[in-house]
Amino acid sequence: FDAVSVVVAKRDGAELSTAQIDWIVDAYTRGDRVADEQMAALAMAICLRGMTRRETADWTAAMVRSGTRLDFPGLTRPTVDKHSTGGVGDKITLPLAPLVAACGAAVPQLSGRGLGHTGGTLDKLESLAGWRADLTVDRMRAALADPGVGAVVAAATEDLAPADRKLYALRDVTGTVESIPLIASSIMSKKIAEGTGALVLDVKVGSGAFMKTADAARELAVAMVELGADAGVATSALLTDMSTPLGATVGNALEVRESCEVLEGGGPADVVELTLALAREMLAAAGLDAVDPADVLRSGAAYDRWRAMVRFQGGDPDAPLPTARHTDIVTADADGVVTAIDALPVGLAAWRLGAGRERQGDPVQAGAGVEIHAAIGDAVRRGDTLFTMHTDTPEYFDAARERLTAAVTLGAHTSERRAPERRALV
Ligand code: URA
Repeated sequence: FDAVSVVVAKRDGAELSTAQIDWIVDAYTRGDRVADEQMAALAMAICLRGMTRRETADWTAAMVRSGTRLDFPGLTRPTVDKHSTGGVGDKITLPLAPLVAACGAAVPQLSGRGLGHTGGTLDKLESLAGWRADLTVDRMRAALADPGVGAVVAAATEDLAPADRKLYALRDVTGTVESIPLIASSIMSKKIAEGTGALVLDVKVGSGAFMKTADAARELAVAMVELGADAGVATSALLTDMSTPLGATVGNALEVRESCEVLEGGGPADVVELTLALAREMLAAAGLDAVDPADVLRSGAAYDRWRAMVRFQGGDPDAPLPTARHTDIVTADADGVVTAIDALPVGLAAWRLGAGRERQGDPVQAGAGVEIHAAIGDAVRRGDTLFTMHTDTPEYFDAARERLTAAVTLGAHTSERRAPERRALV
């Protein structure tokens, strides 16, 4: 094969053969005979022409084979993981992983950092003093085998789907991220390579998500569920609402605090509800559906697991969480009923305040972010506090205030807070 003929075939709408896909993914990863500009042209052709289910499965398998596929020999408990496509205030992994471990499954989660307005689980956990994301595979295995721990959230190692790492960086700068087969194969190659036996996907829909419409989210969910099935990983998906932030905090340490509240039996109802819904899916996928995660949460066992997990990865669950040096508030500019709090501008405000990064590799501020004091359906008076902003860089208060003010819609009528739309797929 040669790169140009593969690009031309896809450009003209042909279905690529398994051999063509294996060759181009392998040659590109090795930096041999496929240059960045050729892979970028192919990614654009895939964006425009799409890929069939078979092509997408072959593409995913080739990306998995570009590195190591982890396994957990000797583990007696079933493994199950969840992946969220990313949102605003989405801290669900923090209460969910210890909860599912306390219910008897092993949770091997390789996770990522935030990019743009969406937060990343590793950034959140790194606000715990001493906590480390970079574990060796042996330490991950030890965490899962330890009956008092049973869950690990760690950074993907360099040799996990290296083809995706290289291709994702290229897509990011060539306008070729927004392709359902490319997104599905990117996410699933990493999840298949991490070695989990079962997987539950939380596919976000709405302004704060990658997928803005339910149709697009469903198409992505179906593509990922099929890829899981093709690779022997029992995969299901929920579509959940991301038109408004999850919970009442957006930002790293702020979200850890809120997650601890959930683990201690409190916390916002939407976070508790989604954590339990995903836990039920995960336990069903792991064959443990006799266990009720609500009972386990109430018993305090999930909170004990959280503390054990944090300690296993070098963190101190009792250390005070970092706080930002400056805070300021955003108030309502009129009387009315809160009818919407738009996720995207809240995410952008938190990001601007320092909770996220502008470029890969930048540091994040652990204490930065936004607390949301109003809920949809609340009646507010002009001057009431809607948000508290937290940052070490107060020069961004004005820009963040503008976004937060625009995020809130005040109306004359009461509207019920919309429950997250959920739909289980096979
Ligand atoms: N997340 C990923 O890991 N890959 C994509 O392509 C998009 C989101």
